[in-house]
Amino acid sequence: MSVLQALPPGSARLDPLALVREDLRDFGGYRSARSESLQGQVWLNANESPWASPADQSGAVRRYPDPQPARLRQALASLYGCEPQQLLAGRGSDEGIDLLLRAVCRPGQDAIVVTPPTFGMYAVSARLHGVRVVEAPLLDDDDGFCCDFDQLAATVENASARLVFVCSPGNPSGTLMPLDHIHALARRLEGRALVVVDEAYLEFADGASAVSLIAAQPNVVVLRTLSKAHALAAARIGSVIGDAQLIAVLQRCQAPYPLPGPCVELACRALTPSSLAITNTRARTVRHERDALLRALRAAPGVRKVYPSQANFLLVRFDRPQAVFDRLLAAGVVVRDLRAAPRLEDTLRITIGSAEQNAQVFALLGQGDAA
Ligand SMILES: Cc1ncc(COP(=O)(O)O)c(C=O)c1O
Repeated sequence: MSVLQALPPGSARLDPLALVREDLRDFGGYRSARSESLQGQVWLNANESPWASPADQSGAVRRYPDPQPARLRQALASLYGCEPQQLLAGRGSDEGIDLLLRAVCRPGQDAIVVTPPTFGMYAVSARLHGVRVVEAPLLDDDDGFCCDFDQLAATVENASARLVFVCSPGNPSGTLMPLDHIHALARRLEGRALVVVDEAYLEFADGASAVSLIAAQPNVVVLRTLSKAHALAAARIGSVIGDAQLIAVLQRCQAPYPLPGPCVELACRALTPSSLAITNTRARTVRHERDALLRALRAAPGVRKVYPSQANFLLVRFDRPQAVFDRLLAAGVVVRDLRAAPRLEDTLRITIGSAEQNAQVFALLGQGDAA
């Protein structure tokens, strides 16, 4: 029986819950001691220690953390333009990817669609969960990598896939996907698949977030992270944003205490207006540096192609990528070698650093690749 046949007629088309695994729709998940809203002064319900750790003089981490602290959820929701109940915070967007896969796809039966070259964790999570990965490759044309959205939709339909991952701006392509194309894709796939828009790098781009599509298209889900522009990669704070009912299901599939207290504190400090002002200024600096390095590298010897980028990195094809990689490494500069990936046999991905670091990269690459 198909997912849609299992639901009352007429209710399924715009109901993203119709895409959740049938066996999980009324799944309650684990009820931790912190899920009960009880009042008291002497807390003896979670088998915690009555003493603070010698490593934690303040005792701030003695007790299990709130699973979804309201002030963090509120701050993230206002940053991303949604309601708090439309947002689930978790351990990086990596956890969001994994939760979506587990909640939506049936192991051994369902498929996801990805658009290579793209972020590798979609396929890794799918494989770990026993879910087939079907590819709708991006087209590599003169303007960079781009997506044929008709072909993408057809691939999802033919594979009866339940999830399609659209990375925008793409890693490693650097391409921003047009919002109207994402909207049309979601409309065509409503009742069939969730369209997951991974916006890990959106702070460095000129486009708007797909969060604005969710009201009209509840099968759109957006991933955001504090790991990139917000400089909190080690705090592991990411967000899944979508229809509130879908978010509630994902929360029930999540580990009981996903957000370590010290990481929540850091994240809340990073989301104050003064921190956000600094983050925005730095994101602008990164864009400016990226565009300058792109222009410089396009004129450098041994560089075959520099892809346009709306993210905080450049994807570059070299005549002799190994020589370039070795020269950078010998100078202590570590870049990402992508040559093992299909169609990227001559590419390196270079993260935009500080002005000094970018100047160092250019000084090394400006020598050509024969040195
Ligand atoms: C496109 C994309 N999505 C998600 C992630 C994972 O981010 P997080 O640190 O939030 O798990 C990355 C990390 O590199 C990424 O490139």
